Amino acid sequence: MPKTATLQLEDNTFEIPVIEGSEGEKALDITRLRQQTGYITLDSGYGNTGACLSSITFIDGDEGILRYRGIDITELCEKSTFMEVSYLLIYGHLPSTDEFARFKERVHYHSLIHEDMKSFFTSYPGHAHPMAILSAMVCSLSVYHPELLQPDQSAEDRDQTITRLLSKVRVLAAFAYKRSVGEAFVYTKPELDYLSNFLHMMFTTPMNEYFPDELIRKTLDVLFIVHADHEQNCSTSTVRMVGSSKANLFASLSAGICALWGPLHGGANQAVIEMLEAIYADGGNHKKYLEMAKDKSSPFRLMGFGHRVYRNYDPRAQILKAYCDKVLAHLGVRDPIFDIAKALEEAALTDDYFVEKKLYPNVDFYSGIIYRALNIPTNMFTVMFALGRLPGWIAHWKEMIEDPGMKIARPRQIYTGEILHPYAPIEQRT
Ligand code: CMC
Repeated sequence: MPKTATLQLEDNTFEIPVIEGSEGEKALDITRLRQQTGYITLDSGYGNTGACLSSITFIDGDEGILRYRGIDITELCEKSTFMEVSYLLIYGHLPSTDEFARFKERVHYHSLIHEDMKSFFTSYPGHAHPMAILSAMVCSLSVYHPELLQPDQSAEDRDQTITRLLSKVRVLAAFAYKRSVGEAFVYTKPELDYLSNFLHMMFTTPMNEYFPDELIRKTLDVLFIVHADHEQNCSTSTVRMVGSSKANLFASLSAGICALWGPLHGGANQAVIEMLEAIYADGGNHKKYLEMAKDKSSPFRLMGFGHRVYRNYDPRAQILKAYCDKVLAHLGVRDPIFDIAKALEEAALTDDYFVEKKLYPNVDFYSGIIYRALNIPTNMFTVMFALGRLPGWIAHWKEMIEDPGMKIARPRQIYTGEILHPYAPIEQRT
């Protein structure tokens, strides 16, 4: 017998179906609420709204659990690679040897961008933010593939679009960086894997051909794996929202990149480093900033702390903190910013305000310190987040577009403006 909840509204009683997820998550299915009752629900920020059924990622924010397709994030970071995790997220299972070989071959095959696009990069001013360039370029890619823009494309065309984007966005990101430092573009090398190729394109100069060592490549793998998906966050919801109009994947991802840019979301990794640098420049008194973050009359927030879903330690932050130690030691980097971050974290974790509100370090708290040690400039940090999140966005777009019950996303509102009144001619207005 399906479960229901009873809703008493004025003199009427309504039965609301109860939905239960595979991990026991419960929801009231209000799809027909307005039709049945004339009421809508109001949930600003969507904190209590499930926008879809999804089988991609499971998060238990109270317990600090994150799983992709049922596999724990810590195990994936230890045993898998970003390429394999991308396949897992997008296609729903770990690939067989043949499937993985075909997938990697396709990604590699699509790693060139149209030569004309190079002139787009040089049209931007040198100081342009790489997130602006990246989102524009991802949308611009679509003009070279008009055959892939049909909303009801075949599974084969969809796979072409997906592998093209996975491969080319990495090239676009590296080119955006090269543009910002005024260096020549570098192309992929067939013998290198996906992430080594990215670092090679970023850091190779005419004077020095760059190849990452094993620890650096593994660190980037882990960074990208922990960013790869996070269910219905702001940018993924944006990708779904745009895609729900049957806009193509290029357009949907470009919108997701824009949503990620904000400092409350992916832009937080840049904001964390800027905050830590400001504390350092101000004498390193982290306690002063902790007090400022608690002061309601100040707009200042501790960047890299707090999360809408986690009310426990963000498991991603725990993994990255360990890598921070390893990478700094490996590269022999002595970064005072890292010492301030550690002191700030320790102070916040024992501070009544942060303890009561369950505010813990999130993924962005430590990622920026690692990127900095890898010589990635601060304004590229959110681009790195975008590259990591790419398979998650793609997986959600694919899941939605393949759902026969898909509907265009179109929330309602409660109108609080002026009620009907006549137009006043300008001469009668005071
Ligand atoms: N510093 C100080 N106070 C905070 C912070 C913070 N970082 N985060 C939340 N609070 C307080 C907030 O003022 C509020 O207090 P009160 O109940 O007295 O009004 C309470 O904690 C709950 O905060 P909220 O803003 O209602 O929580 P939210 O779920 O709407 O916001 C958040 C989540 C991530 C936007 C927020 O915690 C924040 O602004 N953090 C800093 C930015 C950041 O690190 N963002 C990266 C998120 S992780 C990457 C990603 O997945 O996007």
